[in-house]
Amino acid sequence: MLVPGPLVVAALMSDFLQGTRWLGSNPVKEGELILGEWTIRYLVAALAITPLRRTFGWNWLQRDRRTFGLAAFFYGLTHFLWYALIDIQLDGAELAKDLTKRTYIVVGFTALLVMLPLALTSTRAAIAHLKRRWVTLHRAVYAVPALGIAHWWMSVKADIGEPIVYSFVFAVLLGWRVWHARRDTSGNATAIQPRASTS
Ligand code: HEM
Repeated sequence: MLVPGPLVVAALMSDFLQGTRWLGSNPVKEGELILGEWTIRYLVAALAITPLRRTFGWNWLQRDRRTFGLAAFFYGLTHFLWYALIDIQLDGAELAKDLTKRTYIVVGFTALLVMLPLALTSTRAAIAHLKRRWVTLHRAVYAVPALGIAHWWMSVKADIGEPIVYSFVFAVLLGWRVWHARRDTSGNATAIQPRASTS
C-alpha cells in the first residue's frame, strides 16, 4: 500500500549517495512528480470504492476506503514536503513567491488544506462525535480531485495525456454519484406520492 513512497525516497538517496540514476537525470523533479501522481491514484482508489460496492456488491472493499483516503493525504503531504524541503530547500522567500504568484501551487496547496480536516476526522471517535456533521464535512472530498487535477493541468508543459485520462476517470466517479443521488431522490419521490395523494 504505502510502498511507492519509501521506494521514491530510497531511490533519491541512492541517486545522491551512490550515483545511481533510478530517478533519471533530474531526481528531485522526478520524485516530486511521482509523489503527486500517487496522491491522485489513491484519491481515485478512495472514490472508486462506493460505486464498486453499490454496483457489484463488493462490500468487503468498504474497510479500505479510509486507508486509501489517508494514503492520498499522506502522499499529498509528502509531495508538499518534498517540494518544500528538497525542491526549494525551505527558502521562505521562494515559498512566499510561489504561494502568491504561481496559481498551480496555490491550487495544489488548497487541495492539501481541504484534505487536512478530512484526514484529522477520519477516526472512529471523530465519526461518532460529529455524526451528521461528519457526512457534511466529508462532502468536501469531492473538491480535492477537482483541485488536484486543475493543479496538474496547470503544471504540465507538454504531455497532457495523463491529466486527460485522470480527468475522465474523476468525471465518471463524480458523475456516478450525481446520477445515483438523483435516482435515489426520484425513487423517494415516487415512494412518497401515494401517501400524499391519499391525504
Ligand atoms: C501542497 C501543495 C502542493 C505543492 C506545493 C505542489 C507542488 C507541485 C510541483 C512543484 C509540481 C511539479 C510541477 C512541474 O514542474 O512539472 C507538482 C506536480 C504535481 N502535483 Fe502537486 N503540489 C501540491 C499539492 C498537490 C496535491 C494535493 C495533489 C493531488 C491531489 C498534487 C498532484 C500533483 C500532480 C498529479 C502533479 C504532476 C505529476 C506529473 O506531471 O507527473 N499536488 N506539484
